[in-house]
Amino acid sequence: MREFSSEYLTHTRRELWADSRAALTPLSLEDRTRILDVGTGTGEFAQVLDTESPGDIVCLDMDPELLTIARSKTDLTTIIADATQLPIKSDAVDLVTCQALLSNLPDPVNILQTFARVSSELVAAVEPDNAAVSVASTVDTEAQIERRAREAYIAGIQTDVALGDRLSTAFDNAGLDDIVRRRHYHRRTTEPPYDDTALTAAARKAHATALRDHRTELRRELSDDAYDTLRHDWREMGRAVVDQIHSETYRRVEIIPFDVVVGRVSSDQA
Ligand SMILES: C[S@@+](CC[C@H](N)C(=O)[O-])C[C@H]1O[C@@H](n2cnc3c(N)ncnc32)[C@H](O)[C@@H]1O
Repeated sequence: MREFSSEYLTHTRRELWADSRAALTPLSLEDRTRILDVGTGTGEFAQVLDTESPGDIVCLDMDPELLTIARSKTDLTTIIADATQLPIKSDAVDLVTCQALLSNLPDPVNILQTFARVSSELVAAVEPDNAAVSVASTVDTEAQIERRAREAYIAGIQTDVALGDRLSTAFDNAGLDDIVRRRHYHRRTTEPPYDDTALTAAARKAHATALRDHRTELRRELSDDAYDTLRHDWREMGRAVVDQIHSETYRRVEIIPFDVVVGRVSSDQA
């Protein structure tokens, strides 16, 4: 399993659901009585569920440290467990959710079938389509260099991190009915005045930290020369970002599409 730091989750989820929650309408959150959120991490999505639903929220993750952070932000019930072997009775909740979990697991259809056993009514997943991320930046080379790295990463990772686009098919294959899909766009803007997150991101770029973090996946796809060239180009781009930050001219907008898919547990599964 890929490991996620609390800093990464807090940073990447910031403002994810701040502008619009329209894509969550098919979850009928206002009518739910008990929701199980699987792969809760630091609780970023569970907090949204808690705000939008009068129901009880139960958070489940196999990483106890992340769940401790989730508990410090909310007083929701937490369970340390593996999503592939849910220790939850059949029909225990009326909605099972997950956000950015299926794209990190090898067999999403199997997981969705497990969710359908545990839910008496609905199953929902929110997954990024990392292949469709777009970047616009005042540093000319930034979008193109990040795209090169993203494409190599997606080709080199062993789970489907661009699952968003095919999520409805996974629900169908898991036997869920009345499948509804919505697309939600997460817009992340960096502009002056820069906060600590922007300054840290710029320093990470200049040191090519993201490439080092994902070296295993990138090296599956790139030759030694191609990796070294990418690293060289990336660091040069990162230094240009830092220069523009100093002159307060740096602006960047990244748009990450997330697919929200909801299905109804069929009478065969209930
Ligand atoms: C990308 S994070 C998403 C966290 C959170 N849902 C969010 O969107 O901020 C994936 C989470 O799934 C958890 N996870 C991965 N595999 C798991 C499994 N087999 N069982 C339970 N949790 C798992 C990880 O520990 C991590 O917290």
